[in-house]
Amino acid sequence: MNVVVTGGTGFLGKALMEQWAESRRDGWFRVLSRHPPAYALPEGVEWFPGNVSDSKSLEQAFEGAQAVFHLTGILSETRTQTYEKVHVEGTGNVLQMAKSAGITRILYLSAIGASMEAPSRYHRTKYVAEEILKASGLDCTIFRPSVLFGPGDKFLSLFVAMGRNLHVLPLIGNGLKRIHPVFVRDLANAVLMAGGNPETFGRTFRIGGGRIYRYRELMRVIADSLHLKVIVLSQPVGFLNGVARLQEWFFSSPFLTREMIKMALEDNVAIPNDLVTFFGMSPFPLEAYLEEAFPASDGRPG
Ligand SMILES: NC(=O)c1ccc[n+]([C@@H]2O[C@H](COP(=O)([O-])OP(=O)(O)OC[C@H]3O[C@@H](n4cnc5c(N)ncnc54)[C@H](OP(=O)(O)O)[C@@H]3O)[C@@H](O)[C@H]2O)c1
Repeated sequence: MNVVVTGGTGFLGKALMEQWAESRRDGWFRVLSRHPPAYALPEGVEWFPGNVSDSKSLEQAFEGAQAVFHLTGILSETRTQTYEKVHVEGTGNVLQMAKSAGITRILYLSAIGASMEAPSRYHRTKYVAEEILKASGLDCTIFRPSVLFGPGDKFLSLFVAMGRNLHVLPLIGNGLKRIHPVFVRDLANAVLMAGGNPETFGRTFRIGGGRIYRYRELMRVIADSLHLKVIVLSQPVGFLNGVARLQEWFFSSPFLTREMIKMALEDNVAIPNDLVTFFGMSPFPLEAYLEEAFPASDGRPG
């Protein structure tokens, strides 16, 4: 199958292209983004420049494709890249270009929590994008993952760096909300399995990992796996909103935004977990990943 992947150079896109190349599937695999990837592409994968906010820029990459994997999404906004522009208008442009290229199959990367009633605009715009695609008449499959971890993530690696360098692991509020982290390669596998499978047409899959954690518990797991002596510190939401506001003013890629805080104050779990119930996988455990990815300098795990 000939596939074009919007946002295909990002964290999930990289795992997807690697697995596509390893499994030597038929057809071609094009990844589209605004900037060229900062790493070498696997054999058989080709990069195309394109911006989902500009339909015309998608034309060349979409030509001859049979399926679109629509991964483009942003966690923090900038002046030019807002949730409405990227998630909603961008999805409209991708859909329009898919239709004019004669493509009938689309897979979309949404997120657990996507809902019109969600507190965060990130989740509300993801939901609107889902609805646009469901109403399109194309064979559409939606993935709603919880937070992803794996090589190059901005999630576990951030906490590991804080634990190692500051000896503090911060919690947003009381840290009792639940999270269901999933290994990026497990999700990539599920997306590739769904690609040409008619049983997935018209379906929405909730994707989680092997275990549900409360944030507070996850911080302890990170500290224990890496043998770190840390303090797990609850931070008042009002204080963190102030920090986030400053970050948003002064940094182009803030590590904390007010939208992220809203998301962390909601449960983020996949029940049922379709990675297991539909795709039949055993999720790769987060604890095993921590030991593999962050070995101690003396050779001990952690
Ligand atoms: N990572 C997670 O934990 C997680 C959890 C749930 C859902 N998701 C969803 O899964 C999808 C993939 O996430 P990810 O972690 O791989 O994201 P990512 O690493 O931030 O990658 C985003 C990709 O989108 C591209 N992009 C951004 N703006 C674009 C635009 N206007 N036009 C075209 N391409 C654009 C980026 O490249 P350029 O900047 O060069 O354009 C990059 O290739 C997203 O939709 C995200 O919302 C992720």
